[in-house]
Amino acid sequence: MEPILSSERSDIEFRRVRGETKSTLEDPKSAVQSFWDAQACGEIYAEGETIEEQFAAQANARYTIEPYIQTVAKFDGDGKRILEIGIGMGADHVEWARSKPELLVGIDITPRAVEIVRERMALESQVPRLAVGDAENLAFPDNTFDIIYSWGVLHHSPDTKSAFAECHRVLKPGGELRAMVYHRPSIVGIMLWSRYGLAAGRLGRSMADIYANHLESPGTKGYSVDEAKSLVSDFSSATVRPIVTFGDLLEGEVGHRHGSRSLSIARKFWPRPIIRKMPFLGLDLLIEAQK
Ligand SMILES: C[S@@+](CC[C@H](N)C(=O)[O-])C[C@H]1O[C@@H](n2cnc3c(N)ncnc32)[C@H](O)[C@@H]1O
Repeated sequence: MEPILSSERSDIEFRRVRGETKSTLEDPKSAVQSFWDAQACGEIYAEGETIEEQFAAQANARYTIEPYIQTVAKFDGDGKRILEIGIGMGADHVEWARSKPELLVGIDITPRAVEIVRERMALESQVPRLAVGDAENLAFPDNTFDIIYSWGVLHHSPDTKSAFAECHRVLKPGGELRAMVYHRPSIVGIMLWSRYGLAAGRLGRSMADIYANHLESPGTKGYSVDEAKSLVSDFSSATVRPIVTFGDLLEGEVGHRHGSRSLSIARKFWPRPIIRKMPFLGLDLLIEAQK
């Protein structure tokens, strides 16, 4: 498989978008693509004078506020064939490349992510295999990869079930899917419901509706543990567990849709020690499944 995009280098200027991005009459997948093309996940952390400093700041922030990434990803690519779906800004892709895989391929539905990660990998003297691609229609033959890694991606795709089925198809027998999708209910969901349901006088709004309209890209979904298990029911074994995240703890920056005065005040008084003991209301669901 050849990379689809040509590797023209461009000087990337990181975006710090605030407020709503365009909500949309587009079809659901184009709406997801437009959302993440406006600002890739984590650009808000890319501070610094040089591009190297900006990438380093983003990676540093990422692994500080989300230390659990390492426990799922493991970054044990040595001699393996790996696909990352939804590369975003590419911090994890760099980690996979450093682990010396036999083959590493990264896809994302946005050209922006592919462009950023191409530049990031070049700074690492890595020759990446990146393409704009869709989790729901993977352009790979059956039984190709030892590991598929996808952090915070598949719940954004309109047909998440098809995306999981595609992962199963392109994994080799015995291959592993390591993924994170959003969990519902969660503390983050309750906070958003307080703002867009309770405070807006719309008490009947479901948490699924809140996730779809106010969490990140339009149509974002969250899953209960049982629902997530059904997404990986074709796999021979799977573990699924929710965890409390930096979002539930009001640590770190919020995404480019959020940010308000009341949020700044809540940060000061947030009962973090109690929330840490409530994984059943954590935003992330960690999924490890073997084909
Ligand atoms: C929350 S970001 C996560 C990015 C990265 N994995 C990380 O953890 O920072 C979601 C990413 O998924 C990508 N994405 C959404 N739907 C996709 C799809 N159907 N196929 C491939 N990528 C998709 C978006 O473009 C975006 O880069």
